[in-house]
Amino acid sequence: MSKQSTGKGGETHQTATGDEPRLTTNQGVVVSDDQNALTVGHRGPQLLEDFHLREKITHFDHERIPERVVHARGYGAHGYFEPYKSQADLTKAAFLQNPKERTPVFVRFSTVAGRAGSFDTARDVRGFAVKFYTSEGNYDLVGNNIPVFFIQDAIKFPDLIHSVKPAPDRDFPQAQSAHDSFWDFISLTPESTHMMMWVMSDRAIPRSFRMMDGFGVHTFRMISTKGDVKFVKFHWRPKLGALSLVWDEAVVINGADPDFHRRDLWSAIERGDFPEWELSVQAFTEKEAEGFDFDVLDPTKIVPEELVSLRPLGRMVLDRNVDNFFAETEQVAFCPSHVVPGIDFSNDPLLQGRLFSYLDTQLSRLGSPNFHQIPINQPKCPFANFQRDGHMQMAAQQGRVANEPSSLDDGGPREDPKAGFTTVPVREEGDKLRVRPESFADHYTQAKLFYKSLTPPEQKHMIGGFAFELGKCQALEVRKRMLGRLQLVDKDLAAQVAAKLGMEGQAEKLKPAVPVGDPEPSPAVSQYAGFE
Ligand code: HEM
Repeated sequence: MSKQSTGKGGETHQTATGDEPRLTTNQGVVVSDDQNALTVGHRGPQLLEDFHLREKITHFDHERIPERVVHARGYGAHGYFEPYKSQADLTKAAFLQNPKERTPVFVRFSTVAGRAGSFDTARDVRGFAVKFYTSEGNYDLVGNNIPVFFIQDAIKFPDLIHSVKPAPDRDFPQAQSAHDSFWDFISLTPESTHMMMWVMSDRAIPRSFRMMDGFGVHTFRMISTKGDVKFVKFHWRPKLGALSLVWDEAVVINGADPDFHRRDLWSAIERGDFPEWELSVQAFTEKEAEGFDFDVLDPTKIVPEELVSLRPLGRMVLDRNVDNFFAETEQVAFCPSHVVPGIDFSNDPLLQGRLFSYLDTQLSRLGSPNFHQIPINQPKCPFANFQRDGHMQMAAQQGRVANEPSSLDDGGPREDPKAGFTTVPVREEGDKLRVRPESFADHYTQAKLFYKSLTPPEQKHMIGGFAFELGKCQALEVRKRMLGRLQLVDKDLAAQVAAKLGMEGQAEKLKPAVPVGDPEPSPAVSQYAGFE
């Protein structure tokens, strides 16, 4: 226990007695007085020579780093993943081979649009990012809780995000939707229709992170130990089931406890009630994909489960809260291009853009090309290369040679064609073009399926959601265009939203890019149904 005393001005001094460490400067010099700055005389000016004061305040001045440009508000936890059995027939990825081998993971859940200091139960997409610290390097599955996305091409991502973030002139509103610019962009972007069905449904207000699905969204590839290649879609399913809040609950909770989701996750882990998810894939060949009536490279489409069922791979348990929110949850850097042998990308144009964006943004967010040396980002397997120096270099790399090939052999790292990552040799040729494929043009069939699969109370919630959010949009022509989009999904949906807005018969007449039928969903459109 420290010894407590009172100074001449009444301030409290806690002096080290030997049980606790002594307070030092960053240079290790023991501090004698942390309550009073150095002054001239009793009431004179402070002295610049007070290195302890200057160091303490300078460090404080630089405590904040930029928040993420999207997904700024998030909450993380540690855990592990274990496969149920070897998945060697599907992928050679080492972490999916041995049911006795647990791979450590770090997960960060997030909202997309709000700031770091916004609230938890906003109507928004949730990020579901998992870093697997595998024996072959870090694998990041950087997903969302909704299986499709707003846009088809990464070139539209800055526009999408600018439309939803606070307006540049007035800096409000903080969160999704109540924007003229957002609804304007969405109504001019028909490819967003399917995603908007999800966003205006109960799915966009989860009850808890522990009760939330996760999806890889894009089509990826897996490569078996024999070299067979399949397309895959990733799915996380919570053991507790997927549950939502309704809007009225979310609004009350926001007011009472803006930290509702993070408190829920932290408390569950603290009391030993560890949340668990099952990881599955839908695996299919390129030939099978050619037979689908949508393009698997289009991130606004799901692969319905009656076409390709889920193949469970293993389970993930979160069993440890972070020791330090900044060091771990804030400094973690996920990146979709972090893959391991046995997993590869597809040509999904949204995914291809993401492969560039994350490392690029993290260079400015974390401020140094050496952020992979921050403990939360470091692989837990050996890693070595000839990248050198740079801001905040922590490693004193050994040896005089920092290049290869080199005949001055001093034990530097060398490539390994057998164990190393190899890209699936896909044949590609064609003209250089800026054009959206025709196979991406049906923006309504899956949106219709989604709406039809909802129960009447769920449809009512969605109608209420659209009416509430569009009611905040002041530009009448935008509302009309949006009602026109909804008409192409379901006439009754559009009519009910219009009635709530007092805008009956005012929907803009819009034509879909390609003719769309009126699909009847089978009762087993399970990605849609079964949401309690
Ligand atoms: C975070 C870009 C689409 C999931 C981010 C960040 C950027 C970004 C710049 C901030 C990263 C950081 O500061 O560490 C993009 C671009 C996209 C895109 C350019 C489209 C072209 C998506 C999609 C998903 C997704 C489709 C889901 C499949 C996430 C998640 C995070 C994130 C979960 C938060 C990661 C964390 O918790 O640190 N994205 N994103 N993004 N993105 Fe995307």
